[in-house]
Amino acid sequence: MSKTFFIETWGCQMNDLDSQRLSGGLKLRGWSRVDDERQASLILLNTCSIREKAESKVFSRLGQLRELKAERQLQIGVCGCVAQQEGERILNRAPWVDFVMGPGNVGYLDDVLSGGRTIAIDFPEDRRYDYLTVDRPSVTKAQVTIIEGCNKNCTFCIVPTTRGREVSRTFDDVLAEVRAAVDSGRVEIELLGQTVNAYRCPMSGRDFGALLSAVAEIEGVRRLRFMTSHPAEVNESMIAAMRDHSNISRYLHLPVQSGSSKVLRRMKRLYTREKYLETIQRIREAIPEIHFSTDIIVGFPGETEDDFQQSLSLIEEIRYGSLFAFKYSPRPGTPALKIGLPVDEPIATERLTRLFALHERIKRERLESYRGKVLPVLVEGPSKHDPAMLSGRTDDNWVVNFTGHPATPLGSMLGVRIDDALHHTLRGEAVA
Ligand code: 5AD
Repeated sequence: MSKTFFIETWGCQMNDLDSQRLSGGLKLRGWSRVDDERQASLILLNTCSIREKAESKVFSRLGQLRELKAERQLQIGVCGCVAQQEGERILNRAPWVDFVMGPGNVGYLDDVLSGGRTIAIDFPEDRRYDYLTVDRPSVTKAQVTIIEGCNKNCTFCIVPTTRGREVSRTFDDVLAEVRAAVDSGRVEIELLGQTVNAYRCPMSGRDFGALLSAVAEIEGVRRLRFMTSHPAEVNESMIAAMRDHSNISRYLHLPVQSGSSKVLRRMKRLYTREKYLETIQRIREAIPEIHFSTDIIVGFPGETEDDFQQSLSLIEEIRYGSLFAFKYSPRPGTPALKIGLPVDEPIATERLTRLFALHERIKRERLESYRGKVLPVLVEGPSKHDPAMLSGRTDDNWVVNFTGHPATPLGSMLGVRIDDALHHTLRGEAVA
C-alpha cells in the first residue's frame, strides 16, 4: 500500500498544532494525508487525558482499529497526552498498537516510523521544532508555540506529567516562524503555550509582554491572539503590550477554576478570589472593551455549596462572555486524589447545570448588546452552516456570520453591521 496517513485529534490547541506538525513531517517524508481511515496505511491518534472521559475514548477507538488492522497492512500510533501518561501500558492493553509517542517527541518521527522505538515518551533536551513544515489547515491563521510544558502544580491537573517542564523557544525562533507564516499569507497569529504568559526567552530573558509587542509589530500581522494565560503570571508588561497594540485581540482567556479562595488554595492556583478580581480590574482599566473568558471546575474535592455559590457570584461579577465548565475528574498521580471528600456525582452535575444556566443569561445579554453596531471583522472563510455566507471574528473574538460579497478576500478586515445575536454567534451584513 502507498504511504498514506490519517490523523485524529482530541483536546487542546497544543494538540491541534502537534497534529499539524506531525502531518507536515509526514508529508515531507513522502506520505500523503487521507480523510478516510480505511484508505490509510498509518493511523495516528493524537490523544487527550485532561479528563477521564477523553482518555476512555481512546481505548474504545483502539478497539475499533483492531478490526481494521486484522483486515490489512496497517501501522497504528498513539500520540499525545494519553501516550505520555500510559506509555507501555497501552501496548499491554492494545498489543496491535505499533508505537506510543508522547508530545515531547513530535520532532522525532523517524525514530518511531522506522520501528526503531516503540515507546517514545521522554522529553528530549532539544525538542526539535521544524516550523517550515507545519501543515496549517487555515489559509488566514497560523498557530505558533512559544512555550511547551507547565511548571505550575495545580493539584487537579495532569498536564505537568503529560507535557513536562516549561521550555520556552527563543525570541528569534518565534519571530522567524511568525515572519514565515505572514509570508505565506497568514494574517492572524495565535501564540500557544500551556501557560503562555510564563514565556521567557532563554537567551535574553525577555518576557511575554515583550514578545507580544515584538510579534504585534511585525508587518502584516493583522490580528494577534494567545492561549492560555495563568492569572498569577499576568504582569504590567503583558497588559501594556495589549493596551498599546490595536492588532492584539481584545480577548483574554483567564481560567479562574473556582470563585472560592479556600478551594483555590487547595487547588494550588497561587491566587485568591480577591487577587484574581484585582487582576481583572487592572486589565479592564487599561483595556475597557476586553472580553474575558474562563474555565471553571465544579465538584472539586471538598467543595461545599457555599464554595460553589462563590463561583456563581464571581461569574456575575466579572460577566464572562464565554465560559467552559467541567465536573472535576480525578487524574492518576495528581495530589487532589488525596485532598478531601469527593463531591457526589449528582450534586456536581446539578451544580454544573446551575452554573451554565446563570452564564447563559449573561452571555445572551452580552451578545444582544452588539445589535445594531458596526464591528471590524477579520474574514476567515465561508460560514460552516450556510456556505453562501461569510464567517469571521470580531476584535474581541466573537464569531460573526454575515452576508457580503462572495469574492471578499479571506484575511481581509471588513465592517459588519450586527443584525442578530444567536446562541453563541452574531449575524450581520458587510457594510461599505
Ligand atoms: N477535572 C476537570 N477539569 C479539569 N481541567 C483540568 N484538569 C481537570 C480535571 N482533573 C480543566 C481546567 C482547565 C481546562 C483545560 O480543563 O478547567 O483549565
